[in-house]
Amino acid sequence: TRPLKVALLGCGVVGSEVARLMTTHADDLAARIGAPVELAGVAVRRPQKVREGIAPELVTTDAAALVSRDDIDVVVEVIGGIEPARTLITTAFEHGASVVSANKALLAEDGATLYEAAEKHGRDLYFEAAVAGAIPLIRPLRESLAGDKVNRVLGIVNGTTNFILDKMERTGAGYSEALDEATALGYAEADPTADVEGFDAAAKAAILAGIAFHTRVRLDDVHREGITEVTAADMASAKRMGCTVKLLAICERAADGRSVTARVHPAMIPLSHPLASVREAYNAVFVEAEAAGRLMFYGPGAGGSPTASAVLGDLVAVCRNKLAQATGPGESAYTQLPVSHMGDV
Ligand code: NDP
Ligand code: HSE
Repeated sequence: TRPLKVALLGCGVVGSEVARLMTTHADDLAARIGAPVELAGVAVRRPQKVREGIAPELVTTDAAALVSRDDIDVVVEVIGGIEPARTLITTAFEHGASVVSANKALLAEDGATLYEAAEKHGRDLYFEAAVAGAIPLIRPLRESLAGDKVNRVLGIVNGTTNFILDKMERTGAGYSEALDEATALGYAEADPTADVEGFDAAAKAAILAGIAFHTRVRLDDVHREGITEVTAADMASAKRMGCTVKLLAICERAADGRSVTARVHPAMIPLSHPLASVREAYNAVFVEAEAAGRLMFYGPGAGGSPTASAVLGDLVAVCRNKLAQATGPGESAYTQLPVSHMGDV
């Protein structure tokens, strides 16, 4: 069987781990897919940077040319941001590739354009890594729970802010020191304002609400407060009350089913609650569905290796679909429900 060709856009924290795993797991990937996968090109900004395990001749700064090649089967987009990522993804679809992306900012800003381009060209768009790092959450919502009715999704979906709050609470570390550590560990976004001001969690809430409730939710629809106003004194008084402070994302379907709400803000959590014991950059999400009841998803929510695991899972799925000349679940039929920030108080 001919190798499936993969173009990697971005080779930073996540992309470098994707490339490494594609090499070290090559035999397993080939066995699971039914064909070998070959790295056909790697687009970056700084070509002179030494990248361990990447053949220099694969490296290019011309991402547009890479995604326009007709021999590419799958494009893995781990650049981040809105442009050029959006144009690169839609160009990839036009040229026959399916796409795996970890780009929550883009999906929450303009997922509709991506879904529509994928559908128009009969390609896959998979993005398990965009929400909660290694934790399988998109696939369970899109597939496993497709026959159920999800009413609520609630939890911790940003590793950086959880790391900062946890460090401040447990070790007495200062805010800046904890943020620097989260950045050094590869948890924070290129601009960590996205994490600490709640934009990243709000983007994830928008994606989760859209999939869970079969509607479209954009970043701007989500009420957002970050953690920059949370002080050491707030954390100390929470502790005195037997609580801790966590940044939560809460997505709910209204009781009459006619609207949804999505919000992100810090909240006091009783120490006895499972969310209170989520440490470091771990994430935890509860999904409440009518027939299934209450499900909890928990695991590493950020970092190169956990995120690359989710990307590789998508890569296997997309390659299998490609060989079967099929596509996976796209944006299932949706009803545009009104989205409000806070819901009923
Ligand atoms: P990095 O900043 O570490 O890496 C970004 C990569 O993209 C770099 O290799 C950079 O090149 C390259 N790049 C940037 N702009 C361009 C461009 N215009 N053309 C070509 N290449 C470009 O980011 P991360 O790896 O941390 O994140 C990547 C994506 O994954 C983002 O969407 C992020 O939100 C998402 N994500 C990240 C997680 C994490 O824990 N880090 C977890 C889940 C999702 P160069 O190396 O030359 O600078
Ligand atoms: N910056 C993000 C976080 C990466 O800290 O959760 C994972 O999406």
